[in-house]
Amino acid sequence: MKAKLILEKDFSVGQVDRRLFASFIEHLGRAVYTGIYEPGHPNSDSNGFRQDVLQLVKELNIPIIRYPGGNFVSGYRWEDGVGPISERPRRLDLAWRTLETNEIGVNEFAAWCRLANSQLMMAVNLGTRGVQDACNLLEYCNIEKGSYYSDLRRSHGATEPHHIKTWCLGNEMDGPWQTGHKTAQEYGRLACETARAMRKIDPDIKLVACGSSVCTMPTFPSWEDEVLTNTYEDVDFLSLHQYFGDRCSNTPDYLAQSIEMDRFIRTVTSVCDYVKAKKRSPKTMYLSFDEWNVWYHSSAEEEDIIKNHPWGVAPKLLEDIYTLEDALVVGTLLITLLNHADRVKMACLAQLVNVIAPIMTVPGGKAWKQTIFEPFFHASQYANGTVLQTASVCEKYDSKNYCDVPYLESTAVWNEPAGEITVFAVNRSLNEPMELACRFDGFGSCRVLEHLQLCGNDLKAVNSAEKAAVTTALGDNGYEENGTCFVPLPAASWNVIRFKTEP
Ligand code: AHR
Repeated sequence: MKAKLILEKDFSVGQVDRRLFASFIEHLGRAVYTGIYEPGHPNSDSNGFRQDVLQLVKELNIPIIRYPGGNFVSGYRWEDGVGPISERPRRLDLAWRTLETNEIGVNEFAAWCRLANSQLMMAVNLGTRGVQDACNLLEYCNIEKGSYYSDLRRSHGATEPHHIKTWCLGNEMDGPWQTGHKTAQEYGRLACETARAMRKIDPDIKLVACGSSVCTMPTFPSWEDEVLTNTYEDVDFLSLHQYFGDRCSNTPDYLAQSIEMDRFIRTVTSVCDYVKAKKRSPKTMYLSFDEWNVWYHSSAEEEDIIKNHPWGVAPKLLEDIYTLEDALVVGTLLITLLNHADRVKMACLAQLVNVIAPIMTVPGGKAWKQTIFEPFFHASQYANGTVLQTASVCEKYDSKNYCDVPYLESTAVWNEPAGEITVFAVNRSLNEPMELACRFDGFGSCRVLEHLQLCGNDLKAVNSAEKAAVTTALGDNGYEENGTCFVPLPAASWNVIRFKTEP
């Protein structure tokens, strides 16, 4: 099969914000306990942080990490997680039917983020709590000294403020599963008042209001309209959450699901601009896709754990083991986010360790990379610069739920200072290789520097602590003719083609 991509120097979508490669750690399952933190593990430092996990997190070069939830935050009392560890209470976490020991709280997590070279994106509890507690936490984190909560932080050994700049105003408040679930009107008013009070404490913070938990919510997209009508001038971002999965064992359909993410972003952008128009506002609302990933392998088992199991500490929850096929889908989702770089400025791969995660750990044992680690690593590493508008031509197919699905899903990022263009491309065809012709207009000469790829005969192949079955390989660089580069993309493959441009 043949496909064509035409890139023109002066036609761009927007700058890639590094925060597109953000992630998320929730107090859920083994994300924190036996994930990032495991005192006594041979690779842990004196604070109990696993250095092998940190190494992998640093490899992904994650600019900012959302914490501490997720559904967990809607019942969280942050004060439980500060002060002497021996005096911290054990609480029932209603979201995940788990005993929370509170050994890790905001000071420990902020210290861990510094080690990971990441910033912290903190969520406040607007489920069971409200304006006052959000303000107390912000004062505790960001005020230097001389007030009750800033001095309390200092008395806990954190002399310097954490300077947390990005704050989420609750989590998935549209979801009936959320502790303290609210209507759009109730949430919109609360988010607005919380935002206003928080900004009085620290005017430099950036605030994220909750959008819909998934685009199939019955309240979508009127939720967005009502929430923004209440908060438009008081927040900087509106959030989107969505997880994807092959629930019908239908690979062509599964590989097409990024179309759903694309539609979701387009609709939310339209609602933002509708509210902007209603308010005659000059301000543009940006999107934070602060939960996205593939999540379906563990769904049935987790339902059972949450409903029937006794309360326990750090239970095994949401530990999806990802296939090659899942990595291809994650690739298409990354491409979709990049193609909306003008509006989506933050996106969190949910989550980071053990819970629907690219990094897994064995308690007392190894840390290892899942298949989805690879495309996320490539995008974080090479998608620096300007996303170019791509004009593409390729064959299309119809699947169970989607029509006219292009076999080629692609984006291109131009790193002008480095003189490089990176094309990220997925060939969705399960049996036909594709010859991709890339034509570059206005860049001078272009040649392939490197072609990285993920592919294989077994789409269900997975990695484990013992074996890395799905890893990045070098692909064929193809050839150049009359200024066009022809690069072969294997059937069912993720490709990162790095071009060098020379004037
Ligand atoms: O990431 C897992 C859960 O998914 C989060 O706690 C919640 O926000 C979402 O529904």
